[in-house]
Amino acid sequence: MQERTLAIIKPDAFSRNLVGSIIAMAEEKQLSMVSGKVFHLTRQQVESFYSVHRDKSFFESLTRFMTEGPIFVMVLGGEEAISLWRKIMGATDPGQAEEGTIRQRFGESIERNSVHGSDDPETARFEIGFFFNALEVVEESNAD
Ligand code: CMP
Repeated sequence: MQERTLAIIKPDAFSRNLVGSIIAMAEEKQLSMVSGKVFHLTRQQVESFYSVHRDKSFFESLTRFMTEGPIFVMVLGGEEAISLWRKIMGATDPGQAEEGTIRQRFGESIERNSVHGSDDPETARFEIGFFFNALEVVEESNAD
């Protein structure tokens, strides 16, 4: 099934000029960019985006990390895009991530893990709408 997912290249990777390498890893696996922008989020925006994690012990630190510098946010489209992007990213903890995944190659720690991806279709809808309006996301009929 054709899907869209929200992908973030986080401050640790953005600051090391890894945006192009990471996009290339998505494109190699047949994921296509549907929309993309650079943001430098405020604390309030990060708290809102990651609100499902607000009770976690790492929330404060995650908020600090995600506001420390610019990020690249994109919508990726393709066959089973949600699970495929999660596979390309690898496990949350780079130490547990499979060989050849983004987090295994570039992640610095469980927090500074270089990339984010939506975990299911409902989350993808929320996360895409958080960053992009309808005009900024190519219509299915035009993109697919
Ligand atoms: P992400 O997939 O974007 O979802 C939530 C983020 O919180 C996660 O990637 C990491 O950046 C961070 N995170 C998850 N678990 C931990 C943890 N145990 N300690 C610190 N940061 C974490």
